[in-house]
Amino acid sequence: MLDKLEEVARTALAELEPIQDEEPLQRWKVAHLGRNSTLMSVFDQMGSLSKEERPAVGRRANEVKRMLEAALTAKVTEMQEKALQKSLQAEQLDVTLPGRPARLGRLHPNTQTMREIYRIFSEMGFQIYRSREVETDEFNFGLLNIPPHHPARDMWDTFHTTTPGVLLRTHTSPGQIHVMRQNAPNPIRACLPGMCYRFEQISARKDTQFAQVEGLVIDRDVTLADLKGTLNDFYRRLFGPGVKTRFRANYFPFTEPSGEMDVECFLCGGDGCGMCSGSGWLELLGCGMVHPTVLLNGGYDPEKFSGFAFGMGPERTTILRYHIEDIRHLWTNDLRFLEQF
Ligand code: PHE
Repeated sequence: MLDKLEEVARTALAELEPIQDEEPLQRWKVAHLGRNSTLMSVFDQMGSLSKEERPAVGRRANEVKRMLEAALTAKVTEMQEKALQKSLQAEQLDVTLPGRPARLGRLHPNTQTMREIYRIFSEMGFQIYRSREVETDEFNFGLLNIPPHHPARDMWDTFHTTTPGVLLRTHTSPGQIHVMRQNAPNPIRACLPGMCYRFEQISARKDTQFAQVEGLVIDRDVTLADLKGTLNDFYRRLFGPGVKTRFRANYFPFTEPSGEMDVECFLCGGDGCGMCSGSGWLELLGCGMVHPTVLLNGGYDPEKFSGFAFGMGPERTTILRYHIEDIRHLWTNDLRFLEQF
């Protein structure tokens, strides 16, 4: 019996030695430590042994069993270690390699201009307001002193909706009425930026959709000199102290007197070119002293209050800042163009 145990131990250990995989290892375990293994049959046969033989065989059988179990554990550890080394080799990670650059988003050039405009007007004590893009005929025209059928409506080719009296705002000026009604009779310094829509022929300088920044100042004793001073100061802060601007008389139904402000053409330096239609000047904004009727409609007494307003096109400013030759680039979403800013 003892010889048989030595034989079991020797063959089992010899068979275990070359095993490298999970499956043969399982088979080895069943064959040598399983219920039908030779080793276990020795335990079963203990009862048939003589009293003298039994303790020595029992002790040796237990020793062999512990020895095989220990060998098995060692084998499992060895195999796990090898598998780990193998995967470390195969999936090598070089943490010193340079990373893939993340593509950063950026702000649209016109958004950058708008933010610069807000920044400057904020410094000058203006508050920034938002006003709706879908307006009523009353706010877009009527309350701004443009009654139905007034010929001045031709100045704004309008996108109407299928709901009568509801349209896409043609300018940010209806926001003037909203801000006045919110604040009357307190003084106002406000900017109202946003998108406007006009049913117009598209060209290098005009699109059917464009942003405007409306400005409104209401107080006692506001004069045309305040209007000119504020806007000249604004454009010096935006374009630099050397910028050349001019005011021209114009007509708007909601301001009296009304004017327009131009800047010297950046392309030709004032000589006249295709960009400025040969005039040497580029139009920046419309402006004027708020009409008494508009003051009344906003809730202010025109005997006590006066004010000025302006509406500027930030796209014009954007193409001037970056010397962009066609305004349509701004809204065609060509990444080759947008990624330059
Ligand atoms: N709303 C005018 C336009 O779109 C511009 C303007 C605003 C003129 C405020 C005067 C005062 O053309």
